[in-house]
Amino acid sequence: MLLLFGFVVAVVAGAIIPSSASVPSVPLYNAARHGVMMPVTGLGTGSYGSYYHNETEVEDAVYHWLKAGGRRIDASLSYNDQVPVGRGIKRSGIPREEIFITSKVGPTLPLGYKDTMSQFEQILQTLDTTYVDLLLIHWPGPSENSTDPACAGVTPKLCRQSTWKALEAIYTSGGARAIGVSNFEVRHLDDITSMHGLLPAVNQVEYHPFWHEEKLVEHCHRLNITFNGYSPLGTPDVSPSRCGWNLLADETLNTIAKKHDVDVSQVILRWEHQKGILVNPRTKNTTHMHYNLNFFHFSLSDSEMDAIAALKAPTNRPKITPDPAKIP
Ligand SMILES: *[C@@H]1O[C@H](CO)[C@@H](O)[C@H](O)[C@H]1NC(C)=O
Ligand SMILES: *[C@@H]1O[C@H](CO)[C@@H](O)[C@H](O)[C@H]1NC(C)=O
Ligand SMILES: *[C@@H]1O[C@H](CO)[C@@H](O)[C@H](O)[C@H]1NC(C)=O
Ligand SMILES: *[C@@H]1O[C@H](CO)[C@@H](O)[C@H](O)[C@H]1NC(C)=O
Repeated sequence: MLLLFGFVVAVVAGAIIPSSASVPSVPLYNAARHGVMMPVTGLGTGSYGSYYHNETEVEDAVYHWLKAGGRRIDASLSYNDQVPVGRGIKRSGIPREEIFITSKVGPTLPLGYKDTMSQFEQILQTLDTTYVDLLLIHWPGPSENSTDPACAGVTPKLCRQSTWKALEAIYTSGGARAIGVSNFEVRHLDDITSMHGLLPAVNQVEYHPFWHEEKLVEHCHRLNITFNGYSPLGTPDVSPSRCGWNLLADETLNTIAKKHDVDVSQVILRWEHQKGILVNPRTKNTTHMHYNLNFFHFSLSDSEMDAIAALKAPTNRPKITPDPAKIP
């Protein structure tokens, strides 16, 4: 598996270079400025589940993450908490250029060229920054209330393409150092590649031992699209009630964690890392932040990697978020 990992890293990401005390970064390809490096672990800030009570908690989480050595923050305008995210970044005192900020357009806000351009202004304003490191289309689906005729049709394809043109313009003018997509399946990516313009640098998709679409990962890696997994720990504040399971309680994972003398979350993140996938764990707890930043001092064997890949959700709901495969 280390061999496979070496292969994936060499082909997809080139050299891995440490970005802070212990967290490695990988270079981005396609629509990414030369030299842009993305830390392999970033703090998720989605305002669902038990994460968001008030702005203070979000600001504190971002601040503690950066103080603990984290350098990547995953945000979205639709999370409605970019103002405290921006405050946490400022409060850390860490220079803006040392921090990697991802934000996203949509999915509840109107897309298409013109609406995306104005949404991007709000993204910069709420984060209180002059650029983002990575800007993504959050969801491949249709866009309500868009003023763009491309988004009024029965197929969301034209809307995706019109929105991508806006991201290309934002990238070209320097507003985003890299652009990409999120929740895109192969056929959604095909709509972008068939434009013969810029290719996404990143695709951000739900990915954890109970839900991992390896064909999609391989497709992205073939195109040099860096695969960024969200809900890497199975979103334990949401999945028990929504899906009927808690990944962190899985017996196999806990046995492997004991053997390596690490937390179960570190085993899961390590598994994803060895598959060449960048992760966005979300937490307010500083102990958990430590786990989420430290999974580089041990390796999983081939048989451990295979055992984790073979895990099955104990209910028939292995996926936490809605399935983009249903979007035409
Ligand atoms: C924010 O929410 C947390 C958890 O509910 C609470 O302990 C804290 O007092 C709240 N802070 C503010 C400023 O409202
Ligand atoms: C679209 O506009 C309608 C009417 O103003 C509103 O009820 C609805 O919430 C809007 N949808 C979105 C996704 O913003
Ligand atoms: C992927 O990136 C590598 C390294 O820059 C390059 O040699 C290769 O041609 C790229 N492949 C594709 C499909 O773009
Ligand atoms: C943070 O996580 C640790 C380890 O899981 C736990 O012992 C502690 O109670 C948590 N702290 C808070 C404030 O929830």
